[in-house]
Amino acid sequence: MSSQSLKDKIALVTGASRGIGASIAKAYGREGAHVLLLGRTVGALQDVHDHIVADGGKATIMPVDLKDIDALSTIGPTIFEKFGGLDIFVANAGILGTLRPLAQTPMKEWHEVMTVNVSANVQMIRSLDPLLRASDAGRVIFLSSGVVPNPRSYWGAYSASKAAIESVAHTYACECEPTNVRVNIVDPGRVRTDMRAQAYPGEDGSKLPHPDDITDVFVDLALPTQTQNGARIDA
Ligand SMILES: NC(=O)c1ccc[n+]([C@@H]2O[C@H](COP(=O)([O-])OP(=O)(O)OC[C@H]3O[C@@H](n4cnc5c(N)ncnc54)[C@H](OP(=O)(O)O)[C@@H]3O)[C@@H](O)[C@H]2O)c1
Repeated sequence: MSSQSLKDKIALVTGASRGIGASIAKAYGREGAHVLLLGRTVGALQDVHDHIVADGGKATIMPVDLKDIDALSTIGPTIFEKFGGLDIFVANAGILGTLRPLAQTPMKEWHEVMTVNVSANVQMIRSLDPLLRASDAGRVIFLSSGVVPNPRSYWGAYSASKAAIESVAHTYACECEPTNVRVNIVDPGRVRTDMRAQAYPGEDGSKLPHPDDITDVFVDLALPTQTQNGARIDA
């Protein structure tokens, strides 16, 4: 039984078609938010939409490829036109790239990881910032990774992208300090998703937490009563 703590909020979750993003979207739907589901895979977005609606919630799918950086500039105005504003933005979508030595990383792949994990989120902030500031309680959550404080071989592009997004998040948190917008970072830890299986193909995923097990922190950081700003939180 939810407390409807996000009732009447508009929440945009990227990477909502599966994994952690799908679970955050479902949790927000249960808490009464109208959830905008962004990702590329229409069928999977529709499944998450149908789950939220069957649970009594509201959702709308937004099929978008985050690599299409220029097109992202229209997202803010489109959301304003269709929904009248935005209260919560979860920058969850991400890609791992191929784990390999830095010296053997093709620049095309480096750019792809940086585009999806960093540049797309900066462009989203550029587009969504007026809506978040207009909200009486704008909330932004960026997803990072334990590889930032604990560097390791072969994770170069992903690790650099997550370090960069943490820096973006801290900068944006400082800039939002005098406003109603609160900006925080979550490190979800090891979670049973496609990305985790790609990084650790031999691992027994059944022993890892399911994405549904880690959604409380995302609800907490989205609450209108939340005061933390610029924090980095382990889920
Ligand atoms: N799982 C873990 O253990 C773990 C640990 C630390 C951090 N994280 C972080 O948590 C976040 C979610 O990871 P996850 O494990 O849930 O990953 P996942 O299962 O691989 O899901 C990634 C999501 O991102 C979306 N996405 C990827 N490229 C996209 C693009 N170009 N345009 C739009 N959407 C795109 C995918 O949707 P489509 O394919 O439909 O586009 C999918 O919904 C990521 O930022 C990841 O770095 C995960």
